[in-house]
Amino acid sequence: MRTLVVNAGELAHLSNGDLSIPLKGEEMSDKGLNVYEKGMGILIEDNIISKISDSDELTMEFAPSWNGKESATPGLLVIDAKENAIIPGFVDSHTHLVWEGDRSNEMALRQNGMSYSEISDIGGGISKTVSSTRKCTKSKLIEIGIRNAENALRLGTTTLEAKSGYGLNLETEISILNAYDAVNEKTTCNIHSTWLGAHDIPKDRSKEDYIEELINIQLPAVLEQGIAKWADVFCEPGWFTIEETMNILSEARDMGLQSRVHVDEFVDSGGLAMATEIGAVSADHVACSNEESRAGADKAGVMQTFLPGTQYVLGASEFPPIKNCLDNSWAFSIATDYNPNCNTISMPFAASLATHRCGIDPIAALVASTRNPATTLSDLEFPLGGSLREGGEASLNILSTKSVESWCQSPGMNPIAITIANGHIVK
Ligand code: NIG
Ligand code: FE
Repeated sequence: MRTLVVNAGELAHLSNGDLSIPLKGEEMSDKGLNVYEKGMGILIEDNIISKISDSDELTMEFAPSWNGKESATPGLLVIDAKENAIIPGFVDSHTHLVWEGDRSNEMALRQNGMSYSEISDIGGGISKTVSSTRKCTKSKLIEIGIRNAENALRLGTTTLEAKSGYGLNLETEISILNAYDAVNEKTTCNIHSTWLGAHDIPKDRSKEDYIEELINIQLPAVLEQGIAKWADVFCEPGWFTIEETMNILSEARDMGLQSRVHVDEFVDSGGLAMATEIGAVSADHVACSNEESRAGADKAGVMQTFLPGTQYVLGASEFPPIKNCLDNSWAFSIATDYNPNCNTISMPFAASLATHRCGIDPIAALVASTRNPATTLSDLEFPLGGSLREGGEASLNILSTKSVESWCQSPGMNPIAITIANGHIVK
């Protein structure tokens, strides 16, 4: 099956240079480098982009009978972009895709002055979601995952990272990771899984005892079944310390599992420096990390992944210093952190926060939502998402407007008219 997208408006290809490394600094904001002017077309064959070229030339060659409404060429679907802008499918590199339950009562608790950590101490937070998630059957977990992945697809996300972490025991952690394999099979969204057994400490266990289980029971089982690409730990005062995190992640590394890690969300506890020392692929949250550790992380090739939705829902007085990374040419990405507390899986919304609240321009925000996170999710297996290029993955969004910059400037609205995920049109 072939699909020909004609009459593109601006086309953000983001394909300049070596795709295995992120863009940084001015390269992220450079429209000339990252965007073609209007008039291009894209030919898709199966799940691959086979040609990007002048729209009229592509039409003449592949759809000579196209009359602006229909094409008589057998096996060819023509999509008229009507001069609307085209951007790559989003790559959401930090989600907690599967969980069950409702924590909306926590809003009033926060408004009455309780912190995230105090809410957790009275039985809310992660442990509340764990109780309801553990009650789900395996098929229910798959159903939840499919529903959430389809929501993400409808908002233009064609690749996402999905963490376990609402089981906190062998059985449910494994069931969540198994559900991700099923969601990957059953939807057109690419799912990459992370084991986050160390998301919290189960209420009925001592921390020491649980860490023992993580290292000696959960980790070997995850590796044996090959159901996660990374290990993650919620490294924050009150949860796992720097030492405990290093202990878990170095065991994982020794057994062949790289890490991506939650650090420095509420305070600078040295989490980003630790992530750099352990060789994490990505250090996430990093809202409070110090500048020295940011420079060190960049030098070592550790992606800083900002999750501005979390600051937004927690009502933090300050948004993360994303602009600082842009100004210093330190590699960074943006992700949603979709979870029961930050209940949005919209990359355009996360990027609206990055642009409207953190001072990032929309082109840099787009690079941080596509090409840059793709470098942390792929070992350059063919094809690779996050950019639009010949031979690359056919995952793209046709916007409802003509300029690329509009993609993150309609918070609460969906800026996308048509999404193609791995060659399939999203319904
Ligand atoms: O990344 N902070 C730790 N984990 C999630 C939130 C989990 C929850 O509140 O359920 C996060 O923000
Ligand atoms: Fe998270």
